[in-house]
Amino acid sequence: MKESKLFSGQRIPLEMHKPKIVQKLSLVPTERRLQAIKEAGFNTFLLKNGDVFLDMLTDSGVNAMSDRQQAAMMVADDSYAGSRTFTRLERTCQDLFGMQHFLPAHQGRACENILSQVLVHPGSVVVTNYHFTTTKAHVVLNGGTVEELPIAEALQTTSDHPFKGNMDLGRLKAFIGEHGSEKIAFVRMEAGTNLIGGQPFSLGNLAGVRDICDAYGVLLVLDASLLADNLYFIKRREVKCQGLSIREITRRICDLVDVLYFSGRKLGCARGGGLCTNRDDLFVSLRELIPLYEGFLTYGGMSVREMEAMAVGLEETMDEDMINQAPEFIDYMVNELEKLGIPVVTPPGGLGCHINAKEFVDHIPQSQYPACALAAALYIVSGVRGMERGTLSEGRDEEGNESLADLELVRLALPRRVYTLSHVKYTIDRITWLYEHRQMIGGLTFVDEPKTLRFFLGRLDALSDWPERLGKKFESDLGRI
Ligand code: F0G
Repeated sequence: MKESKLFSGQRIPLEMHKPKIVQKLSLVPTERRLQAIKEAGFNTFLLKNGDVFLDMLTDSGVNAMSDRQQAAMMVADDSYAGSRTFTRLERTCQDLFGMQHFLPAHQGRACENILSQVLVHPGSVVVTNYHFTTTKAHVVLNGGTVEELPIAEALQTTSDHPFKGNMDLGRLKAFIGEHGSEKIAFVRMEAGTNLIGGQPFSLGNLAGVRDICDAYGVLLVLDASLLADNLYFIKRREVKCQGLSIREITRRICDLVDVLYFSGRKLGCARGGGLCTNRDDLFVSLRELIPLYEGFLTYGGMSVREMEAMAVGLEETMDEDMINQAPEFIDYMVNELEKLGIPVVTPPGGLGCHINAKEFVDHIPQSQYPACALAAALYIVSGVRGMERGTLSEGRDEEGNESLADLELVRLALPRRVYTLSHVKYTIDRITWLYEHRQMIGGLTFVDEPKTLRFFLGRLDALSDWPERLGKKFESDLGRI
């Protein structure tokens, strides 16, 4: 598909699929959007979807399924125990990941709960290329801490490093050497590293991490939730892997890790999750907790229909034409915004386009949640719902102090195969208008701050009447819609 050149010389992402079912969207007027964001406490998680035009909050559980996935749902074998659907999903995981044991769970964080309960103890450390919000919460809940050892480029918003999700191997070795392997619960590599802009790790880096884990006898766990994007980037960017198929790259990755877990809301375009391992001892201890938290071992909290769809979705992940749509649309969006001088995370990653709020609204201090303010402002002027990934998502430290995030990002996720190029162009246009008027955006303050994962349910208020003034200016420039 990428090989297909246009006569005009333009580069556009070309979809290798067509929509067969559509959902009507609506774009409510600016005054309603202003009202809606106030009702939502300036937190885009709390907006009602009826007020949202393009939902770019996340790709989680909202990717478009294929016709084959939908068809598979019809043959799901509904039973509490021993369903044939489970066997099909288990076989798919065994085949694709080369791991004999599969444990079902209702979503990714459920896997994190089970892993953390079994492997994390008070005082132990999980070393990772970068944390994810729910992962960290579960590690901390079990008395552990998280140590991030990404390469230096990971936190540089603009870079041409193709694998910003890589672990710093020197620091990893030094850290384990200094603290002793007994303290390390496990080393966790996150594919398509979410919080730093959907950035991948390379297969070469993962092999280096494996060598260090072997040298010290430490477990290596893969968070494969964003594996599809990571596979695509390895295939495209890692010279040594260009002769390998996506399937072969998948097996090489899996052969390097002891445990793999995933959110099926992302990987496989269905809703659920699972843990895979070849280690019999680990399988037995992890299995203990599945009936307690998730359900019987042959469904683990998932509906059989979703399990059928997941089995097909995982298999389809091995087809480059099925996994390239999001990375290629993101590539287009990031490049267009960059050409316009708008600060975005580069190189383009997976998952979504990430706007660097620290630079976009550099007049708003981190203590006033610039990325959250920018996400709210973008909603007011476009109806596009993005997500804050900055200090608000970071939460407070153990002493209750605000801990300022390394990065202040607004993530505009592109659910796989859902939005069109005109949707992306519309979004770029509205971001451009907002960039011209960025000085009008002001800060936010909490009015209701939950203790755990505050970004989900926290409510904030504007520190001045900036939202009203922004809405008025937009209306006078571009009209009510
Ligand atoms: N790990 C990663 C890398 C994730 O991105 C997510 C979820 C999880 C684990 C947890 O999985 O939601 O199924 O419980 N990310 C979503 C997002 C929520 O919007 O980025 P889950």
